[in-house]
Amino acid sequence: MEKSRKKYTDLVDKAIADANSMHPDELLFTYKGIFYPATVCSPETFIALESFEGRSDDIILAGYPKSGTNWVSQILNDLIAISKKKTPGAESSVNDEELEEFPYLEFGDPEKYERMTRLPSPRFMVTHLCPENLPKSIFKSKAKILLLIRNPKDVATSFYHFCNGLPALPSYETWDDFFIAFMTKKMAWGCYFEYLSKWNKYADEENVMPITYEELKEDPVLGVKNIAAFFGVSLTEEQLQLVVERSSFQSMKKNSQKTHGTFGNILFRKGSIND
Ligand code: A3P
Repeated sequence: MEKSRKKYTDLVDKAIADANSMHPDELLFTYKGIFYPATVCSPETFIALESFEGRSDDIILAGYPKSGTNWVSQILNDLIAISKKKTPGAESSVNDEELEEFPYLEFGDPEKYERMTRLPSPRFMVTHLCPENLPKSIFKSKAKILLLIRNPKDVATSFYHFCNGLPALPSYETWDDFFIAFMTKKMAWGCYFEYLSKWNKYADEENVMPITYEELKEDPVLGVKNIAAFFGVSLTEEQLQLVVERSSFQSMKKNSQKTHGTFGNILFRKGSIND
């Protein structure tokens, strides 16, 4: 296990262990009308999140679950390492302080936002939340937001397998049962179509860059170049190739035991388009 990933795997392992002793009806709770997984989110954390102080140099990845957020996180972490003149993947590319917080903004305990005030810039965070449920300071600060979008059919397929593989989410006996839940807002993080329609209002803002899973898959070199340009990271040809190589589905799957622990077996499923 990579030292820098311990926080990630600890939280996921605990969520899975907790879920195994919970009744299926307890796995999700609602906050402001949207379902969330009770093993990793809580109303107390959502309340604390409201007073989170954004910074203009925060690096934010927004994407609905299963749209490829772990993939693009890998790319962004490498770009951040390069911007700090460090070698992607080397243990020394991340310092101890940066290892502190689970990157998904709304996961974890309510005290995490206080701890995040002590993290050095740029802070990296991922969120599955709709814009209206993000703290106002994120938009006021004009932090750059990469908005990741994936074909809803592939999101649904991926989510179906994820729900049936991960004990922390309700499972579905048939695709039809899942599909009804997906179309009737009964999923964790709510309805994907509403999510898209809400984020669509921000898509033209200067500090928001939409990117699709499909365009990144089709031309990862161009995708990584565009992401780097948006965040102002300059790359040599060699660095570009390294980031692209390290973020390929094959590399990430192969490395997943170290980066994601046993959760990697559930997460890195097919990584394809039109499944
Ligand atoms: P599939 O279930 O269709 O395979 P998230 O990280 O937001 O939970 O999204 C998970 C989806 O992204 C999964 O889709 C997973 O396989 C895919 N994925 C993860 N890493 C990837 C990569 N390097 N390239 C392409 N897809 C990737």
